[in-house]
Amino acid sequence: MSQKTSINSSSREGVPLSAAVALVTGGSRGIGRAIALRLAKLGAGVAICGRNAPVLRAAEAELEKSGTPVYAQIADVSQSADVTDLVLKTQAALGRISILVNNAGIGLFGPAHEKTEADWDRVLGTNLKSVFLLSRAVAPAMIQQGAGDIINISSLAGRNTFAGGGIYCASKWGLQGLSACMAEDLRGHGIRVSVVCPGSVATEFSARGSKDPSKVLSPEDVAHAVEMILTQGPQSFLSEVHVRPLQKP
Ligand SMILES: NC(=O)c1ccc[n+]([C@@H]2O[C@H](COP(=O)([O-])OP(=O)(O)OC[C@H]3O[C@@H](n4cnc5c(N)ncnc54)[C@H](OP(=O)(O)O)[C@@H]3O)[C@@H](O)[C@H]2O)c1
Repeated sequence: MSQKTSINSSSREGVPLSAAVALVTGGSRGIGRAIALRLAKLGAGVAICGRNAPVLRAAEAELEKSGTPVYAQIADVSQSADVTDLVLKTQAALGRISILVNNAGIGLFGPAHEKTEADWDRVLGTNLKSVFLLSRAVAPAMIQQGAGDIINISSLAGRNTFAGGGIYCASKWGLQGLSACMAEDLRGHGIRVSVVCPGSVATEFSARGSKDPSKVLSPEDVAHAVEMILTQGPQSFLSEVHVRPLQKP
């Protein structure tokens, strides 16, 4: 097999991802924004998406301060047409996508038997189907390159169950299964599919009461886990990272 350039092995001091182009879904706020900023700091060209235009533009402006190439597009990741358009335009703006961070997600809590079919479709569409759509859209170019990273932001709720978590846990348990199977499908092509499972993170994600900041993670803690995955040795594969607050919530 011919030797191909791999983002996993490209490294200049201080800018280890200078050869990379990353697409971070839901990069407009919360965990996705922190990941996008971290990847820009590491030298990657960064694309972000979200549905709220002003919030997306604010994140884009912040990212541009890093001096790295940036692209932002309004897109709903649960919609196939939006995903196709997002990937095509990102590639046109920044080049081949070598890192995909499937981060966009929504929370919906309460007994599943009290929820509607529309609730189910919205959560599963955003948290699970989107990962299938995005990964399918970027995989061919990664396979051609013989390298790439797909990092899926799951949750400890993808490994645990709790009352009121039915629909959300279904989406994240599904994401765990999809990620692990795709990892096996793609590792032979030099592509790592990893999952990051954070515990409670201080973002606007959940309206389930205010969180004690000393007992929750920060979005930057999750960005750090993503950096760890992307800066490991080219022969290594961190397939699943659990990130917990040190102090129990
Ligand atoms: N916060 C936590 O405690 C926690 C814990 C474990 C795992 N997670 C996971 O971490 C990920 C990020 O959560 P977060 O806490 O950062 O949430 P957040 O602060 O609510 O941010 C969610 C991001 O996703 C975007 N988004 C939501 N639905 C979208 C859609 N259909 N299409 C495109 N973008 C969409 C949002 O932008 P728009 O609303 O403008 O579209 C926003 O940029 C999620 O997958 C979540 O399940 C969160």
